[in-house]
Amino acid sequence: KSIVVLISGNGSNLQAILDACASGFIDGEVCAVISNKANVLGLDRAKEAGSIAHCLPHQDYPTRHSYDQALQQLIDSHKPDLVVLAGFMRILTPEFVQHYSGKLLNIHPSLLPKYQGLHTHQRAMEAGDSIHGCSVHFVTEELDGGPVVLQARVPIFPEDELTAVTERVHEQEYSIYPLVIRWFCQGRLHQEGNLAFLDNE
Ligand code: GRF
Repeated sequence: KSIVVLISGNGSNLQAILDACASGFIDGEVCAVISNKANVLGLDRAKEAGSIAHCLPHQDYPTRHSYDQALQQLIDSHKPDLVVLAGFMRILTPEFVQHYSGKLLNIHPSLLPKYQGLHTHQRAMEAGDSIHGCSVHFVTEELDGGPVVLQARVPIFPEDELTAVTERVHEQEYSIYPLVIRWFCQGRLHQEGNLAFLDNE
C-alpha cells in the first residue's frame, strides 16, 4: 500500500511511521510527505528515509479552497491508498475530506471527544484530569469528530509539568498510529459513516 503523509513541523509521528514501514511492521510505503511549512525537520526525515518530500506553502494560495485543491492534486499524483495527517496544522475543506473518505486518518492528542482543537495537554491538566491520552480517528467534515479507531491512555500525576505530559502522550502516539496504519494496510480497517470497524485477520 502507498501512503502520503501530511505534516507541518517536527514529524516525530512521521518518523515512527517511516520506521514501522522500514521494519515491515507496516506493509506499506510512504511514497511522499507534504508539508505546508518550509524548512521543517519532518521534511528532512522524509528525505532521509527515501520518500519524496514536498513543500506546499499555504501562503501561496489566496483561499483555503484553492490551497486544498492544489494539495489534493499533489497528493493524487502519488496515487495513495491512504492519506495520513501527522501534525498537519490546518483545517481541511469538506470537499477535500470527502474526496478521501474512508482513507484519511488523523492522530489527535486527547481522549476524544474530550479536548477537540488545540492545547489539549494544558487543558487536560487545568481541568485536573488524572487520565489523558491520544486518539487515532478517521477524518470527517467535523473537526476532530470523525470515528475513533484506537485510543491510548496515560496518567497525569499532580506534580507533572506540561513537557512530561506531552512526552508521555507522544510515546503512545508512536505506538498506536503505526498499529492503526498496519491494520489499514492489511485491509482490515473500514470506515462506515461515523463508525470504524476492524476485521479479523
Ligand atoms: C502530535 O502531538 C499529534 O497528536 C498532533 O500534532 C503533534 C505532531 O507532532 N496532531 P509531530 O510533528 O509528529 O512530532
